[in-house]
Amino acid sequence: MPPLVTPWEVEALKSQLADAAEGRRFLLEGGDCAERFAECDAQVITDKLKILLQMSLVLVQGSKRAVIRVGRFAGQYAKPRSEDTETRGGVTLPSYRGDVINRPGFTKAERTPDPQLLLRGYGRAALTLNFIRALVRGGFADLHHPEYWDLDWARNSPLAPEYRRVVSNISESLLFLENILGIHAGEIERVDFFTSHEGLLLAYEEAQTRCEERSGRWYNLSTHFPWMGMRTSDPNGAHVEYFRGIANPIAVKVGPAMTPDTLLRLMEVLDPHHEPGRLTLIHRLGAGRIAGCLPRLIRAVHDAGRTVLWCSDPMHGNTRLTGNGIKTRRFDEILSELEQAFDIHAAAGSRLGGVHFELTGEDVTECTGGARGLAEADLGRHYTSEVDPRLNGEQALEMAMLIARKMSAGPPTPALRTDPK
Ligand code: PEP
Ligand code: CO
Repeated sequence: MPPLVTPWEVEALKSQLADAAEGRRFLLEGGDCAERFAECDAQVITDKLKILLQMSLVLVQGSKRAVIRVGRFAGQYAKPRSEDTETRGGVTLPSYRGDVINRPGFTKAERTPDPQLLLRGYGRAALTLNFIRALVRGGFADLHHPEYWDLDWARNSPLAPEYRRVVSNISESLLFLENILGIHAGEIERVDFFTSHEGLLLAYEEAQTRCEERSGRWYNLSTHFPWMGMRTSDPNGAHVEYFRGIANPIAVKVGPAMTPDTLLRLMEVLDPHHEPGRLTLIHRLGAGRIAGCLPRLIRAVHDAGRTVLWCSDPMHGNTRLTGNGIKTRRFDEILSELEQAFDIHAAAGSRLGGVHFELTGEDVTECTGGARGLAEADLGRHYTSEVDPRLNGEQALEMAMLIARKMSAGPPTPALRTDPK
C-alpha cells in the first residue's frame, strides 16, 4: 500500500527543525496521548487542528519566530505501559496497549492482541491525514480567515479577548506585508502541518519503511517525525537499532534516569554525522526534578560539540493519582516545568526550542487548574482519555499564552534563513 508521507516532506521538516535548533523557529507538537480509532471523526480532527493553529498563532506572536506545527496524530496508536497486566475484582488481564494492538474493554477477548488492528491503524492514519491535508489545502488554515478556527467554547472563555487581540495583530501584520510587497501572499497564507507518533510497534513502523531510490536513504513513511519513548531508548535495544537506520528527523524522550554518558552514546549511534535537524531531545523530567537533572545533560551535549533541538514535554513527568485513583496532572506543575526549562537552558547558554503537549480541542476535564480552576471533583465530569490526561482546549490555549509571555521577555530571535526548501 502507498506510504502516508513523502521523503521530500520529511526533508522539509528536517530543515525546519535545524532552524529551530538554532533559535530561528519554534516547535509546537501536540495531540492525544493515545489516538483512538473511534475518534477518527471530522469534528474531533477539526477541533484538534483548530487548537494547534490557535496556539501556534499565539506562539508566533510571543516568540517572534516561525512556528513548526506537528501533531501527535495520524498514527499515535501504540502505547508503552508501566504494567503488563491490569487486575480488577480479582481478574487479571493484559494491559490495554493502544488501538493498534488491543482494545480497552476489560474482557479477555478485547485485551487479546489482534494483528488485524495493524491494518486498521494504517487505514485510520490515512483517513486522518487525508482529512487534515484537505482542510489545510482547502483554505481552512488560511491566515486571512482565522475566524474559521474558533472553537465553540472559546467564545465564552476568559481568554477570548486576549486571543482576539493576538489574531487582530497578526491579521494587521499580514495586511501590512501584503501592501508593502504589493502581493496577495500566496505562499504565506497557508500553514503547514506535520505528523508524529511514538515509533513503538516496530512491526507497524517497518512495514512503511522504504528506500528512496535517488538518495538510497531509508525513510519511515508512516509519519514525518517519529519519536522514541523513554522506555525504549536503550542504546543496545531494538528501537535504537531501527531508528539509526532511517533518515527521518527523530526525537528521543529523555527521562530522569538518563545519564550524560548514555545520552552521548545514544546521540553517537543515532546521529553519527551531526546532521542538522536530525535529532530532537524531548526532556520530560517533572517540575520537581528538572532543576536537578537537566543542567548536566545540557552541559554534556554542549561539551560534545553538538547542536540539537531541545524540546520540553512538561506532561509526562507530572502525572499523579488522585485519592480516588484517577490519573491527572496539575496545570501549575506543567507550567512550572516549562518555565524552569526556559530558564535552565538560558542560564546554561542553551535554548529551549520547542514544546510537546498532550492536549485535545475537546472540552474534557482531565487535568486540574487553569483559568477556570478545574478541581479534582470536576475530573469525573468529562474524562475520556484511556491513557494519560490531556489539557483541554482552553487550558492548552492558556498554556500557549503563558509561554508566549515568557518568550517575549526572553533573548531576541536570530533572523530566519531564506534558503529554498
Ligand atoms: C507519551 O508520550 O505518551 C509517552 C508514553 O511518553 P514517555 O515515553 O515520555 O513516557
Ligand atoms: Co502519554
